[in-house]
Amino acid sequence: MPDPPWLVVHVVGARPNFIKMAPLLAACRAAPSIEPLLVHTGQHYDEAMSGAFFRELDMPPPEIELGVGSGSHAQQTADIMTAFDAALHGLDRRPDAVLVVGDVNSTVACGLVAVKLGIPLVHVEAGLRSRDRSMPEEINRIVTDAIGDLLFCTEQAGVDNLHREGVDPDRVFLVGNLLVDALVRYRPKWAESPILRTQGLAARRYALLTLHRPANVDDPRMLARLLDAVERISRDLPVVLPAHPRLRAALWRFGADERVERVRSCGEAGLRMTPPLGYFDFVKLLSEAAVCLTDSGGLQEEATMLGVPCLTLRDNTERPVTVETGVNRIVGRDPDRIVEGCREAASMPRPLSCAPRFWDGRTAERIVRVLEERLAGAGEGDRL
Ligand code: UD1
Ligand code: UDP
Repeated sequence: MPDPPWLVVHVVGARPNFIKMAPLLAACRAAPSIEPLLVHTGQHYDEAMSGAFFRELDMPPPEIELGVGSGSHAQQTADIMTAFDAALHGLDRRPDAVLVVGDVNSTVACGLVAVKLGIPLVHVEAGLRSRDRSMPEEINRIVTDAIGDLLFCTEQAGVDNLHREGVDPDRVFLVGNLLVDALVRYRPKWAESPILRTQGLAARRYALLTLHRPANVDDPRMLARLLDAVERISRDLPVVLPAHPRLRAALWRFGADERVERVRSCGEAGLRMTPPLGYFDFVKLLSEAAVCLTDSGGLQEEATMLGVPCLTLRDNTERPVTVETGVNRIVGRDPDRIVEGCREAASMPRPLSCAPRFWDGRTAERIVRVLEERLAGAGEGDRL
């Protein structure tokens, strides 16, 4: 047992990070050899995008808040780097590792700072590749994996990608998915959410939609095409849309909010746009949906785990296992394909569930075990 325990700085910045980090932090806190220290970069800062998750998921408040906020990619990444560098220098002892999750700007920014200070870097959700370099996340993934010491993968494709890129196999571990740990850990809470009742929805009689990729929402023509599809679907099936702030800003900027108003009241069913939802309400809505339409990364995985047919409104996915299980289909952005795909998916027999390897709720445990082994074996200033 190390004395003092190994200091591992855990970084979160954006909504999906909070959900993945909650079960991992709990596992680290339960391991006497590890002292986790939580840093929140402030990339997401609205109550509904950040604070609500800390409370719901019973996460202790971050020890350090960088409060960086929004900006261009360069501005945001640079601001996070500068603030994180100062925060690490301000600690009263040198961390034994910095741990980052996912593919957001906070992930790559803090990863770069850590390795430049010679602090070992751990990347959770490594190896995923869409092979679409126009996605900011793809650049963040490639860079973070190239500089990471320990790379934890959610699915075999991640391991294969890293091997193809020449990463030493000794650094790569298939451990499963922290989003699944969260689904399992909080099931008693989300299963009890009253959201269907409060929204007046019947199980399997609505579609759940989320949209926030810049390629979909920041291009007015693309957004209009997607709204066409939503309008057609919502004539027969209510569509619930918890709107990400990027989408809300785009609707307002392009004057499309009036169109949403029209779709909202069209036909029998219509569109219900809500603010971003809390995790328990959102997962409950997902678990009971007839179909989920999304461009989110995490949602493809949660839908797979819950066996809810998922249509991905993109031309590619970095999470191919979700397609291999038969739950997720990459339908692209053509309105006819989306509407047809939705009709087919909504009538698929259920349940579809088929969990990929290690998607069993014990991923955090596996990560902690490897971390402890590697930290125990590393000398002062060594790579893990
Ligand atoms: C970011 C991630 C994306 C992830 C998503 C999860 C990057 C490059 N993108 O995208 O990979 O899928 O988070 O949700 O890291 N805003 C608010 N309130 C907030 C946060 C943002 O109003 O609390 C608005 C701001 O206008 C901001 C815009 O949303 O400019 C985009 O925020 P940002 O974090 O830059 O990117 P996301 O689209 O949220
Ligand atoms: N989520 C949520 N409320 C919402 C929308 C999503 O709690 O209104 C959760 C969802 O269950 C998943 C995560 O947020 O765990 C996905 O985040 P997002 O789609 O913003 O990011 P991505 O996964 O695409 O990076």
